[in-house]
Formats: sequence, C-alpha cells, structure tokens
Amino acid sequence: MAGEKEKLIYTIREQLKSDMLLGGKWLPKGQLRAIELSASVESAPSAPSVEQRSEPVVVSPEPETQAPAYMTPQVEEIMNKKQKLKALAAEVAGCQSCSLSQSRINVVPGEGNANARLVFVGEAPGQSEDEQGRPFVGRAGKLLDNIIAAMGLTRDDIYICNILKCRPPDNRDPQKSEVESCCHFLYEQLNIIDPEVIVALGTHAAHTLLETSTPIGQLRGKMHTYHPAGLNKPIKLAATYHPAYLLRNYTPDTRAKVWDDMKKVLRELDLPVPGK
Ligand code: URA
Repeated sequence: MAGEKEKLIYTIREQLKSDMLLGGKWLPKGQLRAIELSASVESAPSAPSVEQRSEPVVVSPEPETQAPAYMTPQVEEIMNKKQKLKALAAEVAGCQSCSLSQSRINVVPGEGNANARLVFVGEAPGQSEDEQGRPFVGRAGKLLDNIIAAMGLTRDDIYICNILKCRPPDNRDPQKSEVESCCHFLYEQLNIIDPEVIVALGTHAAHTLLETSTPIGQLRGKMHTYHPAGLNKPIKLAATYHPAYLLRNYTPDTRAKVWDDMKKVLRELDLPVPGK
C-alpha cells in the first residue's frame, strides 16, 4: 500500500515537473514543493520521542472522507484526465465500427501528457505503429521526435495521436467513411486534454479538424481555430506538412517551412524559441 502511494506521488510529481517545464497554465510553482513536503511527511511521520511523552499517544485513523494532502484540485484534474483517456483507450480497443478493425494488429489510441498544452495530430498508424500500438514510432516518428526536440520539448511534454486509430492496409489514405466513424475518438481526446494549441500534421489532420479542403500548402504558415463540438472554447491550430511528406521532400525549403510553423507554435505558447 505504501509502495502504491509512493508510486502515485512520484507519477504526479513527474507530471507536475513537465507541466512546469511547459510553462504550466495554472500550476503555481509551490505546488511541486507542497507535494514533496507531503510525501516526506507521510513517509517519515515525526512522533515525539519516548522520553518526551507524558501521556499515551492515541492514534486515530484518518477519516475516510478527508482527501490526502497532495490531492489538490489541480492534481485531481490531472488524474481525472488520465483516467478519462485510459477509459477512452479501452473503448478504442473494443471498436469494430469499420473494416480496419479486422486487419489491425493493435489499436493506436495515442499517448503523452494528459495535461499537455500542445497536441500533435497525425493521419493514421503505419506498420510500426500497428505493430507496437504506439503513435509515430516509425521513420516519420523519428523525424517528428527530432522536430519536438528542436522545439526544446520531449514526448512527455506533449500528446500525440491520429485521426484514425487503426492502420489502413498498405498505408493507403484514410477513407471518408473511416474518418467519419473514428474521428469522435479524437474529438473526445481533445476535449479531455483541452490543449492551448493543436498541430495538425498533414492534409488529412488539417482537413478533418478545420473542415476544409484547402491544400495544406495554403493552410500552413498561419494560425487557425479549431472549434470543438459541444464546447464554446476554440483552440488554436497550426497546420504543417506531415513528417512523411517531409521525408520524401527533404529540401531546405520544406524544412524551413516546417520549422517556421513550429516557431509560431512556440510563440503562441509563450515558450522560448531555441536558437534565437
Ligand atoms: N503517420 C501518422 O500519421 N501517424 C502515425 O502514427 C505514424 C505515421
């Protein structure tokens, strides 16, 4: 039981640290210290020494209803988001709404920081992703890792997912009916995470989220707005070239355009632009 509690405190501390790194939208810096203090208080209770005791010590159990010291509203919110994403991933795993469920090895719901300020949305899993059940782990994923690192971030700071949660055979383009039956999972993920900025990677992500058919070359280079269904709050969206396209067109011009888009995203988040 004590191990469980320590694990929980560790997880929350790591989460809070990465939130702070990303400039945490609501997290007061003292929060982390408070959790460290409550962790050390709980693991090393200070009872008076035997010599100091004048009366018998009565240990009364903590009332069941009282939340532990580290369970602040902020920590609770992060844990709620994690739980909701986990429940959604379980739903994705059981989905048989389209024929892709028949050919998949694994579903690829998405992964990362449940409290991320920045979410990357790709198109659909490829072969490596299907095999591992994780987004962007193949060649295009390695390039995306480089882009994220160049932004001064890590995968733990952000969330990555796709429009489709299952691999289309032979990596063909997603079909309209597949997008229609799958995109509610993405919309729910975005509603749970509630990021400040979304990066749509490539044509399919940009077209789905912006409900447009404007070519990606015209969509990139400026900030757009994604309007989540059922929510009043719009979310900023930057569209850029898909890393797989960048791999096929690895020219100074395309690379500069993608980097330009990422710099806009960093500025939008009030984060430092590395190399400036
Ligand atoms: N391409 C995508 O769009 N998504 C992945 O997860 C991998 C490659």
